[in-house]
Amino acid sequence: MSAPGAAAPSINIEKDLLGDFVHVVERAAIESARTMGQGDAEASDQAAVQAMRKAFEGIRMAGNIVIGEGERDEAPMLYIGEPVGAPAQDGVQFPRVDIAVDPLEGTNLCATGAPNSICVLAASEPNGLLHAPDCYMDKIVAGPACRDALDIEAPVKYNLKTIARCLDRRVSDLVIMVLDRPRHQDLIAEIRSAGARIRLITDGDLSAGIAAAVRGANVHAVFGTGGAPEGVLTAAALRCLSGEMVARLVVNTKQLEERVERMGIKDPKRIYSAKDLAPGKEIIFAAAGVTSGALLNGVRFFGQGCRTHTLAMTAASKQVRFVDTVHMTEEPGPRGVRLF
Ligand code: FBP
Repeated sequence: MSAPGAAAPSINIEKDLLGDFVHVVERAAIESARTMGQGDAEASDQAAVQAMRKAFEGIRMAGNIVIGEGERDEAPMLYIGEPVGAPAQDGVQFPRVDIAVDPLEGTNLCATGAPNSICVLAASEPNGLLHAPDCYMDKIVAGPACRDALDIEAPVKYNLKTIARCLDRRVSDLVIMVLDRPRHQDLIAEIRSAGARIRLITDGDLSAGIAAAVRGANVHAVFGTGGAPEGVLTAAALRCLSGEMVARLVVNTKQLEERVERMGIKDPKRIYSAKDLAPGKEIIFAAAGVTSGALLNGVRFFGQGCRTHTLAMTAASKQVRFVDTVHMTEEPGPRGVRLF
């Protein structure tokens, strides 16, 4: 038995907690996938939130939600500052881990059965993930070939030419993903006039960012304004993939200015790189497919269980794993488990 108040045992987050965090996003994916196509985005989100919250309970960590479902007074679960993880044992706290969650990224995608909805989290040692407010963020995301080459203050044409040069292509070969929103009208016009191709997406700039950072997805960059929480999660993924990101918070009201200041962000106009947004030495990024997309299969249910597909990555140990899990809820029938 340890003395009360004894120091937390040390852990290697990437090595010791990766399997636990894969389990967390898998549970959220299974429960939200049950609501797929029901047309109720809120119910889909709730299913993911509740499953994720419950799955955290058994993990031997003093988890601290730094990006979650909102402030304590507006979110009953997974709110910013909520402690998650197993209770202290024999008076000894487990090690502290900061956690950013997006229990269901693409709630509308899940509610309509459209591709690319995912359950996501990132984790790091304390202060390894920016405590970002729930506001918008201007972002450009691209792959490792564009490292340190992009400039969010430069014209769109300049960045497209730079990406084309880094990828040894013409601008007209590029595919740029943009959220289909009225606020992007000018951006879309500029990309078109520069001659690049565009894939408009209804939601999900986080999975778009991951696609842009890997080879073979036929997406070369993501441009536009999306959620700042999704921006921090994208940055955590890019730290694992060595991708390029430049970003800036959109702080356009007095209220937001005050909020940003309260959160300890001194310069609201600061331009962030992936490393600024997710500076942790150890970082885990885990995303499980809810509906099938370019990178991940959605959840498939069968008689005695279901099958999930998860991307699990680490920054320091630079591992990228695709985890394909069969979850048995009952003994398989006489024909056994179908694996293929
Ligand atoms: P939700 O899953 O929370 O609905 O977010 C989806 C999303 O499309 C994000 O990928 C993106 O960053 C953000 O919403 C954009 O916000 P808005 O819908 O307000 O333009």
